[in-house]
Amino acid sequence: MGYDFDTPLPLRGANTSKYDNIARAYGTDDPDLIPMWVADMDFAAAPAILAALRAEVERGYMGYFADTRRAGAAFAEWARSRYGWEVDPDIIRYTTGVMSGFVDTIEIFSEKGDGVIVFPPAYHEFAHQTQAVGRTVLESPLKVVDGRHEMDLDALERSLTGKERILTFCSPHNPGGRIWTVDEIRAVADFCKRHDLIMISDEVHMDLSYPGTRPVPTAVAAPEVLDRLVVVTAPSKAFNIAGLKTGMLIVPDRALRARLDPLLRARYGSPNRLGMAALTAAYAEGGDWSDTARAYIADNFALFRDRVGALPGVSVLDMRATYLSWVDFTGTGMDNEELMSRLLNQAKVVPSPGPQFGSGGSGHMRFNVALPRPTLEKAIAGIEAAFADLQ
Ligand SMILES: Cc1ncc(COP(=O)(O)O)c(C=O)c1O
Repeated sequence: MGYDFDTPLPLRGANTSKYDNIARAYGTDDPDLIPMWVADMDFAAAPAILAALRAEVERGYMGYFADTRRAGAAFAEWARSRYGWEVDPDIIRYTTGVMSGFVDTIEIFSEKGDGVIVFPPAYHEFAHQTQAVGRTVLESPLKVVDGRHEMDLDALERSLTGKERILTFCSPHNPGGRIWTVDEIRAVADFCKRHDLIMISDEVHMDLSYPGTRPVPTAVAAPEVLDRLVVVTAPSKAFNIAGLKTGMLIVPDRALRARLDPLLRARYGSPNRLGMAALTAAYAEGGDWSDTARAYIADNFALFRDRVGALPGVSVLDMRATYLSWVDFTGTGMDNEELMSRLLNQAKVVPSPGPQFGSGGSGHMRFNVALPRPTLEKAIAGIEAAFADLQ
């Protein structure tokens, strides 16, 4: 079925974080700016999701939601058919988003002052939320090898303080879209076992892997770690429904669930009715839309990489999943201020500044390429013009 990703939606002035928070975050309300920062897509959600939401609205009932396992069954079938992952719907807990489940897990399985391992550049909320609940971030910087990110577990081992309780893993990784291999996932799992760490595997970007790739869920790659694994995920990124604030914690181990459940019940009670309708429709009926969207994003990234990556001193990390491209401008010799000024004022695009993502982020920017193709082309042309003096 054909879907229209090319026609821009009227998003400015529609309470969209991506457009309507630019002035607050960047101090400019230039209406020509193209937002490439906030991690959602400029696309309408899948028709099946919109139909499910319309049906809820038509019924008119907005009362408490009963979990009849329909949502869990839809996710389980999705996970089985796409990734060979057998998920019992009873091990799924619903939250108000990926990061709420992430911070719940940190609060339950560590104490104030304990250490939480993060692999920067990493989605900035990993560090923020860890610190917000009084835990300490131990950074294990990713290295760039052959144009893609790699972990350095030997260096991490040497930097341990003995206070670490939790390791946070992002698979595929944001930013930069690295899909970890089974061997890499198993090495991280083994590290968690050896150091008695809870492993949080954030798999929210898995359904944004590009055609022809095969991401493997941690539970499938490393079943030996199930007794210490908490998976956080959601249809929010891949189906562009982050504003519906519905995420999942998937906890295979009964003892871990027993420790989490009282807090989860207290915090969330019954889940968001509209969010659950959307989640169920996404996993039950959204496959074709998702495959089309992933292919469109892969083509967008190829265009962005080929043109922005051709600028002297600029290199674009190879990406196999996500729409969050990690770009290294260090070869231009420009500092963060000049880079941001050129991007905002000359290119008229709004990236996320690299230093947000932790150590090593200086001189880098993250660009969200989930834009209608004509808008992306305009953004790329703006970036080329802003750095034309490098030629
Ligand atoms: C890796 C990762 N986890 C979590 C989130 C946020 O998810 P949520 O809004 O459901 O908390 C994002 C958003 O960009 C993300 O990239």
